[in-house]
Amino acid sequence: MVHFHLNAGLWAALVALTSLQSCSADKRVDLIVRPNGGNVSSPIMYGLMHEDINNSGDGGIYAELIRNRAFQSGDESRYPVTLDGWSPVEGAKLSLKKLSKPLSSALPYSMNVAVPSSKDKKARKVGFANDGYWGMDVRKQKYTGSFYVKGAYQGKSFTASLQSALTGEVFGTTEVPAKKKASNDWVKYDFNLTPFKAARNSNNTFAITFDAAGAKDGSLDFNLISLFPPTYKNRPNGLRVDLMEALAALKPKFLRFPGGNMLEGNTLPTWWKWNETIGDLKDRPGQSGVWGYPTTSGLGLVEYMQWADDLNLEPILAVWGGLALDGGELPESRIDEAVQSALDEMEFLTGDASTHWGGIRAKILGHKRPWKIRYVEIGNEDWLAGGAVGYENYKRYRFPAFFKAFQEKYPKVQLIASPSVFDNMTIPKPAAGDYHPYLTPDNMVKAFNKFDALSRDNLTLIGEAASTHPNGGIGWDGNLMPFPWWGGSVAEAIFLLGLERNGDKVIGTTYAPGLRNLNRWQWSMTQIQHAADPALTTLSTSYHVWKLLGETAITKTLPITAKAGGIDPLFYVAGETESGSNVFKAAVYNSTEPIAVSVQFAGLAGKVKQPAKKPATATLTVLTGPANPYGYNDPWKHNNVVKETKTKLKAKEGGTFSFTLPQLSVAVLETDSK
Ligand SMILES: *[C@@H]1O[C@H](CO)[C@@H](O)[C@H](O)[C@H]1NC(C)=O
Ligand SMILES: *[C@@H]1O[C@H](CO)[C@@H](O)[C@H](O)[C@H]1NC(C)=O
Ligand SMILES: *[C@@H]1O[C@H](CO)[C@@H](O)[C@H](O)[C@H]1NC(C)=O
Ligand SMILES: *[C@@H]1O[C@H](CO)[C@@H](O)[C@H](O)[C@H]1NC(C)=O
Ligand SMILES: *[C@@H]1O[C@H](CO)[C@@H](O)[C@H](O)[C@H]1NC(C)=O
Ligand SMILES: *[C@@H]1O[C@H](CO)[C@@H](O)[C@H](O)[C@H]1NC(C)=O
Ligand SMILES: *[C@@H]1O[C@H](CO)[C@@H](O)[C@H](O)[C@H]1NC(C)=O
Repeated sequence: MVHFHLNAGLWAALVALTSLQSCSADKRVDLIVRPNGGNVSSPIMYGLMHEDINNSGDGGIYAELIRNRAFQSGDESRYPVTLDGWSPVEGAKLSLKKLSKPLSSALPYSMNVAVPSSKDKKARKVGFANDGYWGMDVRKQKYTGSFYVKGAYQGKSFTASLQSALTGEVFGTTEVPAKKKASNDWVKYDFNLTPFKAARNSNNTFAITFDAAGAKDGSLDFNLISLFPPTYKNRPNGLRVDLMEALAALKPKFLRFPGGNMLEGNTLPTWWKWNETIGDLKDRPGQSGVWGYPTTSGLGLVEYMQWADDLNLEPILAVWGGLALDGGELPESRIDEAVQSALDEMEFLTGDASTHWGGIRAKILGHKRPWKIRYVEIGNEDWLAGGAVGYENYKRYRFPAFFKAFQEKYPKVQLIASPSVFDNMTIPKPAAGDYHPYLTPDNMVKAFNKFDALSRDNLTLIGEAASTHPNGGIGWDGNLMPFPWWGGSVAEAIFLLGLERNGDKVIGTTYAPGLRNLNRWQWSMTQIQHAADPALTTLSTSYHVWKLLGETAITKTLPITAKAGGIDPLFYVAGETESGSNVFKAAVYNSTEPIAVSVQFAGLAGKVKQPAKKPATATLTVLTGPANPYGYNDPWKHNNVVKETKTKLKAKEGGTFSFTLPQLSVAVLETDSK
């Protein structure tokens, strides 16, 4: 018997079920798992999805510490260029300049730093500071930085430093010797900075100062000011270590990128142009982001591919499908432009050095080895942004144009249409669809059977999924939960079990969004929350559930027959794993009482009957949550409401394992030997 603290009657179902009924005997579910007769499952079942949603890229997994490092906009009518993030040091005057000689055509703006005109200025060091993405993590480790300067400077050096924004205490400083260059040239400086002391909190700034008297014309211009901590696998321009480690621990199999809405852009001209996200940072204009801020494109196409390489992930490359979020779309007469861009992108990634774009990758960017791309998605949620007309056009000419071009040039690539069969699109074989369930827990659970009715022709990616709103019908724009919560996470588990039962029709599935910056959000459901301070990195309840289910990949489902009980309120799937073990995965939802489960792996029966052999053993991992199903992991409390219990079980006669699962639990039983 389980009791909940009830919240505003929303979990009405659970009130009714838990408060009134008297304890009865345990429910029983007795199952036999047969060793043959299953279906082969997708090898990339569990994965990741990423776009730069509300500083989960810039200020998130992209490790750059400097905010607004190159005064980018992407679209000045949407985002005026600003000096956000920057403040003067020792009375310097900062202003934005659009110089006749910019650092690059991609970065037309720069910051002019004028020396104050007071008399004692000669003695002074002046400059500017950046407060990062809501702070900066400072520890005793090597930071790698660079900046560009233009102007007549006769000082000996520039000083780069990290200090507290609260007390001014300096944690580390380095002198960067000035180069003798013509005053009209942009000069690049690279430096390393290793603090001698770690900061106590993340309220820190990075500053560059210089001798005021050395600025012969009274000011210097700066641009592309960059500072990185050590990155995952020490990649230059790389990714944040703690977040990558948390993602690696999920043992994901694929990465869907770069979106999501970001792929589409707000307006027709501002889609995610992959060709403007590659090469030297000074040649990346950035994108007018779709989540309320311009992005740097520092996390560009190559960085996404390296992310996939570093975690051994299958890339699911999303290419622009000719539609913008405001509904603007390419007419039929111009759809070839989008198709050509996608083919060029494929050539850039997979072509050898003799091809035009492959040559740019190999010869200019130095990435000799072509990548492999096996999955390409055309657009994002094309049933949504363009309304009925946009969707009609996707079916009529946008998707078909890509389909034809890829059939000709890349016939082995698994194409994915951005709608799914559930969005009323008849998807031409052999293409697949993409389904994005953002549901209440009850509806997640009800979707357990959704894929049973499909045929294998209806191959589908679940490119985004999450329990978003509590049961009770408060609606899409109603109150989201502040974080993924236990009841919602268990419901996701049941949806996932439904997918695993149909692994031959499912390419893969991923939670979305994966990452959330605690300083800029509205869409609260994310697998991992983060901020400048790594102590706030929080693994949500859903993270734990998806990790447990994703760790043991089923390669082949196994048929189950029920001797007693059946599906609901226990939901389950059984299968064989890569290592040859047998696995049974289950979750309990809406149960009035704990469930006594027995699972007989019939394939083990012969083995245990022989007296000489030891009985088969298995490991049972059970996740349970807080008494209140609305409980969640709170970044500021550093709590984990998810409890994991591992138990070794011995098989009884016939290869049968017995255990009890409580209400709102998720379990994986895996045999130890073949
Ligand atoms: C859970 O139980 C309640 C009350 O009986 C019911 O309204 C709700 O539909 C159930 N949810 C699911 C997914 O079965
Ligand atoms: C330190 O930074 C955090 C995050 O940016 C902020 O919420 C907090 O108010 C700051 N603390 C102080 C004392 O300024
Ligand atoms: C990138 O490609 C698009 C077309 O696909 C083109 O419009 C744009 O000018 C290109 N950007 C640059 C910098 O060449
Ligand atoms: C499944 O695919 C077939 C074609 O292979 C199609 O006729 C059918 O409509 C699809 N099913 C659904 C539910 O869309
Ligand atoms: C699919 O069709 C159903 C039934 O006509 C409708 O309710 C739903 O809105 C349609 N979905 C899309 C994405 O068009
Ligand atoms: C992103 O952040 C902005 C403000 O910072 C907010 O208005 C917007 O709703 C957020 N969007 C999401 C999806 O979190
Ligand atoms: C294998 O697929 C068939 C057809 O979709 C289905 O009826 C059957 O239940 C599946 N078997 C298992 C063990 O998943």
